[in-house]
Amino acid sequence: MRTNQPQTVYLSEYRVPAYLVDHVDLRFELFEEGARVHSTLAVRRNPESEDTSGRLELDGDSLVLEGLQLDGRDLEPGQYENQGDRLVIPEVPEQFGLTVVTWIEPQNNTRLEGLYKSSGMFCTQCEAEGFRCITFFPDRPDVMARFRTRIEADRAGYPVLLSNGNDVERGDLEGGRHFVTWEDPFPKPCYLFALVAGDLVEKRDSFRTCTGREIDLRMYVEPRNADKCDHAMDSLKRSMRWDEDIYGREYDLDIFMIVAVDDFNMGAMENKGLNIFNSSCVLASQDTATDATFQRIEAIVAHEYFHNWSGNRVTCRDWFQLSLKEGFTVFRDSRFSADMGSTTVKRIEDVTLLRTAQFAEDGGPMAHPVRPSSYMEISNFYTLTIYEKGAEVVRMIHTLLGPDLFRKGSDLYFERHDGQAVTTDDFVKAMEDASGRDLTRFRRWYEQAGTPVVTVRDEYDEARQVYRLDIHQTVPDTPGQTGKQPQHIPFALGLLGADGQPLALKLVGDDAPPAEQRVLELTEASHSFEFEGVAARPVPSLLRDFSAPVRVDYPWTREQLLFLMSHDPDGFNRWDAGQRLAVDVIESLVDAGEDAEIEPRLVSAYRHLLTDEGLDQALVAKMLQLPSEAYLIELAAAPRVQQIYRARTRVMNHLAAALREELLACYHRNNGGAEYRLTSDDIARRTLRNTALGWLLEIGDAEGRVLALRQFREADNMTDRLGALRALVNSDYHEDREQVLDAFYQRWQDDPQVVELWFSVQSGSTRGSLEQVRALMEHAAFDWKNPNKVRSVIGVFAGQNLAAFHAEDGSGYRFLAEQVRHLDASNPQIAARLVTPLTRWRKFASVHGEQMKAALETIRDREGLSKDVYEVVHKSLA
Ligand code: PHE
Ligand code: ZN
Repeated sequence: MRTNQPQTVYLSEYRVPAYLVDHVDLRFELFEEGARVHSTLAVRRNPESEDTSGRLELDGDSLVLEGLQLDGRDLEPGQYENQGDRLVIPEVPEQFGLTVVTWIEPQNNTRLEGLYKSSGMFCTQCEAEGFRCITFFPDRPDVMARFRTRIEADRAGYPVLLSNGNDVERGDLEGGRHFVTWEDPFPKPCYLFALVAGDLVEKRDSFRTCTGREIDLRMYVEPRNADKCDHAMDSLKRSMRWDEDIYGREYDLDIFMIVAVDDFNMGAMENKGLNIFNSSCVLASQDTATDATFQRIEAIVAHEYFHNWSGNRVTCRDWFQLSLKEGFTVFRDSRFSADMGSTTVKRIEDVTLLRTAQFAEDGGPMAHPVRPSSYMEISNFYTLTIYEKGAEVVRMIHTLLGPDLFRKGSDLYFERHDGQAVTTDDFVKAMEDASGRDLTRFRRWYEQAGTPVVTVRDEYDEARQVYRLDIHQTVPDTPGQTGKQPQHIPFALGLLGADGQPLALKLVGDDAPPAEQRVLELTEASHSFEFEGVAARPVPSLLRDFSAPVRVDYPWTREQLLFLMSHDPDGFNRWDAGQRLAVDVIESLVDAGEDAEIEPRLVSAYRHLLTDEGLDQALVAKMLQLPSEAYLIELAAAPRVQQIYRARTRVMNHLAAALREELLACYHRNNGGAEYRLTSDDIARRTLRNTALGWLLEIGDAEGRVLALRQFREADNMTDRLGALRALVNSDYHEDREQVLDAFYQRWQDDPQVVELWFSVQSGSTRGSLEQVRALMEHAAFDWKNPNKVRSVIGVFAGQNLAAFHAEDGSGYRFLAEQVRHLDASNPQIAARLVTPLTRWRKFASVHGEQMKAALETIRDREGLSKDVYEVVHKSLA
């Protein structure tokens, strides 16, 4: 906590470490009233460092220093300086052993960084800078050491003692205590260190690698969750196989462990050989988890597993390089999910997140490049830009090189840099060297923030039978960055003839054989492309499969969009055409009167989707979802939230009323029956059924109500049970609403993950008010110390219940500011994330913007603001 201004860290100030640590010997004595950590480091001067001062500086945070020895001799008070966040020893030899003893209080650690307790167990979170909350250490990822860890604790309370690597020794100690020693043969940065101690059940399985090694797979969970491990274990084995098949990456230790903890700031963490997961991202059963949760688990298990190579074997030189591991790993997990289910649906989901949330971030006060050049608090940079845009950047390299050269590049990257801490530039270099392509200009994607706008205009010359595209790109200014250079954009496209058939594309002056799809490479501000032999004006299908993270500006007509919705061979663009049409219709109603006509062709397009069973049902399920309010707000220049909300609701009601029969038929056609399976077909069926139900309840349909109540009672899985609950909660059947909410809670109150779903259905419901959200915070199951609860009530309210959050009287803003101020004292990371919606104040029309700004100011004025919240609030107000 602080009152003065936090320091800014700059990439340009990066220096190699003055001292390296080859080995770390840790001994943890765990007690109820605290923990004593004995750390012995084998240190030597870094021959590559220019710093020859002989001064050693170690990082620390909230530590009590109990002992300090250099080569076995106690250091006298004058021989070192403990500055709290830094331990300085002004004169050290070239090479030495350093022993540090610290005392910490995991039971009082509410920040959930370092060593803390979560429902009775000890666990750690060290990324990015948590290890310094455990002991004094050079806490930076380019210091890589071999770790040996001995854990001592009460045997009855903590029978399971885990750390990275292999368990090499165990035994009993006096007073009912015991110990286990772990050794990790791979040098690693301290952010990958992990420790767990608790009373956990173990689930075992095994995996045979491509070279025939048998890997021991273990999951550790609280006894009540023993029956919720199968899906994660199965996802893990599929990830291991996939990484061998697609990237040639084999697992390297003999044991791979996964632990579930309830209190966790993020989704999960890739600690070497010992991944720690937020319970909600790993535990699942048909009865307690929705399809979306199952899919999230599959993706996150894969993500953390893939980090073993993209992150652990090859790690980041400094935290500015975070996207080196995160962007690449998100790209990898996203391909994995695509391979496990529907490629098109996965793409739609990724792009939806990117366009709704990352584009908003890129257009807001916290906009930063994929490789930032400065930060105050690195925890604030675990962003959609680093993760999702970073993944898009890697994906574009994949598109430009093609799968084979990309694989050559990744092989070279892993081989060249195995065991090293490197930069995003090293990654691009490996791709260049393996492919022979020049990616100089492409590197701008890492350096320039902001979402490029690609403006496309076309002209058809009937006499010449030539169709011309004029394409122009600009990259908007972002805080601290103006006058940007054009970027290297792979722009995939196709052209459709009047009959809906794809045209063979032949560029004037280009020898490439005609193809139905081309990837144009934009590298300049403006380009013109002429396609020859075009017999009639075609309909362009632009940016297919969303080949680059850009906004496309093209004057679509509704005819063209309707045409693409039913003819585009690119599934993604078919969906996107539907979204654009719906956006256009909704936007046109924002300023129109209550009786303005709603585009009749939208209704017929949706009717077609609902009734043509020959269509890909997974795609249909996506196409039926109207663009979210958040997306509509993102698209608007000065959004008026209430009007957008009303226009969207009007369209939904109109569609539901006009298509009532079709919705009922769709519901019945897709109604359950067979056993619960997680194929993309079955998931699509459940999505369709629950979408239909939601729309029927939206218009208060009596038959829909009966169906929902029955589905709620009879569902044999959480997807359908929650689908019915959500439909009723979002309806005007108030009595039913209360009844099902009660019944649901009674049945599932002992399961925290299900209670979180129960919270979010209510806090995210547009029928819910701020008072109801406040009431949820008074509920016995709400817990300020548990990030999942905070997110599922406060985060979901501010992120999804947009009409209430943006209430005209500013109450939603004041509410959020109040919660942020409260939370900052106990968990700054979560507090800083929660502020996000307020940071966008400049985007909103005057009254709202001013109220949001005023709310931010009340946070700014709080005494002793954390570094995390300080950075976000000050940058937003600047
Ligand atoms: N590195 C983790 C991941 O991407 C995320 C994380 C960051 C978790 C910081 C905890 C703390 O999988
Ligand atoms: Zn990650």
